Amino acid sequence: MKKIVSLLIITILMISCTTAEIPLAGQVPITRNITYTQDIQPIIFNNCLTCHSSVNPRNGLILETFIQVKNSAQNGTLIARMNDAANPMPQSGLLTADKRALIDKWRTDGYLK
Ligand code: HEC
Repeated sequence: MKKIVSLLIITILMISCTTAEIPLAGQVPITRNITYTQDIQPIIFNNCLTCHSSVNPRNGLILETFIQVKNSAQNGTLIARMNDAANPMPQSGLLTADKRALIDKWRTDGYLK
Protein backbone atom coordinates (compact mmCIF):
# COMPACT_ATOMS: atom_id res chain seq x y z
CA MET A 1 0.00 0.00 0.00
CA LYS A 2 2.82 2.37 0.89
CA LYS A 3 4.44 1.67 -2.48
CA ILE A 4 1.25 2.49 -4.35
CA VAL A 5 0.87 5.77 -2.49
CA SER A 6 4.43 6.87 -3.20
CA LEU A 7 4.07 5.81 -6.83
CA LEU A 8 0.93 7.92 -7.04
CA ILE A 9 2.70 10.90 -5.50
CA ILE A 10 5.62 10.56 -7.89
CA THR A 11 3.22 10.30 -10.85
CA ILE A 12 1.33 13.41 -9.76
CA LEU A 13 4.58 15.30 -9.28
CA MET A 14 5.76 14.32 -12.75
CA ILE A 15 2.49 15.39 -14.38
CA SER A 16 2.45 18.73 -12.58
CA CYS A 17 6.05 19.34 -13.62
CA THR A 18 5.49 18.64 -17.31
CA THR A 19 2.34 20.76 -17.56
CA ALA A 20 3.72 23.73 -15.61
CA GLU A 21 4.33 26.76 -17.80
CA ILE A 22 7.85 28.05 -17.83
CA PRO A 23 7.75 31.85 -18.00
CA LEU A 24 10.07 33.64 -20.43
CA ALA A 25 12.99 35.21 -18.62
CA GLY A 26 11.62 38.34 -17.01
CA GLN A 27 8.98 38.96 -19.64
CA VAL A 28 5.31 38.14 -19.78
CA PRO A 29 4.13 37.41 -23.35
CA ILE A 30 1.58 39.94 -24.62
CA THR A 31 -1.66 38.18 -25.49
CA ARG A 32 -3.96 41.15 -26.25
CA ASN A 33 -4.02 43.28 -29.39
CA ILE A 34 -1.82 46.36 -29.30
CA THR A 35 -3.20 49.62 -30.70
CA TYR A 36 -1.60 52.94 -31.52
CA THR A 37 -4.07 54.97 -29.48
CA GLN A 38 -3.89 52.89 -26.33
CA ASP A 39 -0.30 51.69 -26.25
CA ILE A 40 2.01 53.26 -28.82
CA GLN A 41 1.06 56.93 -28.80
CA PRO A 42 1.95 57.38 -25.09
CA ILE A 43 5.38 55.82 -25.66
CA ILE A 44 6.10 58.08 -28.64
CA PHE A 45 4.75 61.17 -26.90
CA ASN A 46 6.82 60.58 -23.78
CA ASN A 47 10.07 59.56 -25.45
CA CYS A 48 10.31 60.93 -28.98
CA LEU A 49 8.39 64.17 -29.44
CA THR A 50 10.99 66.44 -27.87
CA CYS A 51 13.02 65.79 -31.02
CA HIS A 52 10.46 64.53 -33.53
CA SER A 53 7.60 67.04 -33.40
CA SER A 54 6.81 69.45 -36.22
CA VAL A 55 8.81 72.10 -34.35
CA ASN A 56 12.39 71.48 -35.50
CA PRO A 57 12.07 67.74 -36.26
CA ARG A 58 15.47 65.99 -36.16
CA ASN A 59 16.26 64.39 -39.49
CA GLY A 60 12.93 65.78 -40.74
CA LEU A 61 11.15 62.91 -38.99
CA ILE A 62 7.81 63.92 -37.44
CA LEU A 63 6.08 61.39 -35.19
CA GLU A 64 2.91 63.26 -34.18
CA THR A 65 0.16 61.26 -35.87
CA PHE A 66 -0.84 57.63 -36.31
CA ILE A 67 0.01 57.79 -40.04
CA GLN A 68 3.46 59.30 -39.42
CA VAL A 69 4.40 56.74 -36.76
CA LYS A 70 2.96 53.84 -38.76
CA ASN A 71 4.84 54.99 -41.86
CA SER A 72 8.16 55.18 -40.02
CA ALA A 73 7.57 51.77 -38.42
CA GLN A 74 6.45 50.12 -41.66
CA ASN A 75 8.68 51.79 -44.25
CA GLY A 76 11.39 53.45 -42.19
CA THR A 77 13.76 52.46 -39.44
CA LEU A 78 11.68 53.27 -36.34
CA ILE A 79 11.51 49.70 -34.99
CA ALA A 80 15.10 48.88 -35.93
CA ARG A 81 16.42 52.05 -34.26
CA MET A 82 14.35 51.50 -31.12
CA ASN A 83 16.05 48.08 -30.79
CA ASP A 84 19.54 49.09 -31.89
CA ALA A 85 21.67 49.10 -28.72
CA ALA A 86 24.62 50.63 -30.60
CA ASN A 87 22.60 53.48 -32.15
CA PRO A 88 19.36 53.70 -30.14
CA MET A 89 16.30 55.93 -30.39
CA PRO A 90 15.92 57.79 -28.14
CA GLN A 91 19.63 58.61 -28.24
CA SER A 92 19.86 58.47 -24.45
CA GLY A 93 19.47 54.67 -24.55
CA LEU A 94 17.09 51.81 -25.27
CA LEU A 95 13.64 52.00 -23.75
CA THR A 96 12.66 49.18 -21.36
CA ALA A 97 12.16 45.73 -22.87
CA ASP A 98 8.43 45.78 -22.15
CA LYS A 99 7.95 49.05 -24.05
CA ARG A 100 9.91 47.68 -27.01
CA ALA A 101 7.89 44.45 -26.84
CA LEU A 102 4.72 46.56 -27.23
CA ILE A 103 6.11 48.10 -30.43
CA ASP A 104 7.03 44.66 -31.78
CA LYS A 105 3.57 43.32 -30.97
CA TRP A 106 2.00 46.37 -32.65
CA ARG A 107 3.82 45.37 -35.85
CA THR A 108 2.78 41.70 -35.46
CA ASP A 109 -0.85 42.76 -35.01
CA GLY A 110 -0.70 44.82 -38.22
CA TYR A 111 -0.27 48.39 -36.92
CA LEU A 112 -3.78 48.74 -35.48
CA LYS A 113 -5.08 52.22 -34.81
C1 HEC B 1 17.17 63.92 -28.01
C2 HEC B 1 16.61 63.93 -29.34
C3 HEC B 1 15.94 62.69 -29.87
C4 HEC B 1 14.99 61.88 -29.26
C5 HEC B 1 14.41 62.00 -27.88
C6 HEC B 1 14.62 60.89 -30.26
N1 HEC B 1 15.30 61.09 -31.42
FE1 HEC B 1 15.15 60.00 -33.13
N2 HEC B 1 16.63 61.10 -33.98
C7 HEC B 1 17.29 62.16 -33.39
C8 HEC B 1 18.35 62.62 -34.29
C9 HEC B 1 19.32 63.76 -34.00
C10 HEC B 1 18.32 61.80 -35.43
C11 HEC B 1 19.22 61.85 -36.65
C12 HEC B 1 20.53 61.20 -36.41
C13 HEC B 1 20.44 59.70 -36.28
O1 HEC B 1 19.84 59.04 -37.15
O2 HEC B 1 20.97 59.18 -35.28
C14 HEC B 1 17.22 60.85 -35.21
C15 HEC B 1 16.85 59.87 -36.10
C16 HEC B 1 15.80 58.98 -35.94
C17 HEC B 1 15.41 57.96 -36.88
C18 HEC B 1 16.10 57.63 -38.18
C19 HEC B 1 15.93 58.67 -39.22
C20 HEC B 1 14.62 58.68 -39.95
O3 HEC B 1 14.31 59.74 -40.51
O4 HEC B 1 13.90 57.69 -40.02
C21 HEC B 1 14.31 57.33 -36.37
C22 HEC B 1 13.50 56.21 -36.99
C23 HEC B 1 14.06 57.93 -35.08
N3 HEC B 1 14.97 58.94 -34.85
C24 HEC B 1 13.05 57.54 -34.24
C25 HEC B 1 12.91 57.96 -32.93
C26 HEC B 1 11.98 57.39 -31.99
C27 HEC B 1 10.99 56.30 -32.34
C28 HEC B 1 12.18 58.02 -30.81
C29 HEC B 1 11.51 57.75 -29.51
C30 HEC B 1 11.40 56.36 -29.08
C31 HEC B 1 13.22 59.02 -31.00
N4 HEC B 1 13.65 58.94 -32.31
C32 HEC B 1 13.67 59.89 -30.03
C33 HEC B 1 17.01 62.70 -32.17
C34 HEC B 1 16.14 62.17 -31.23
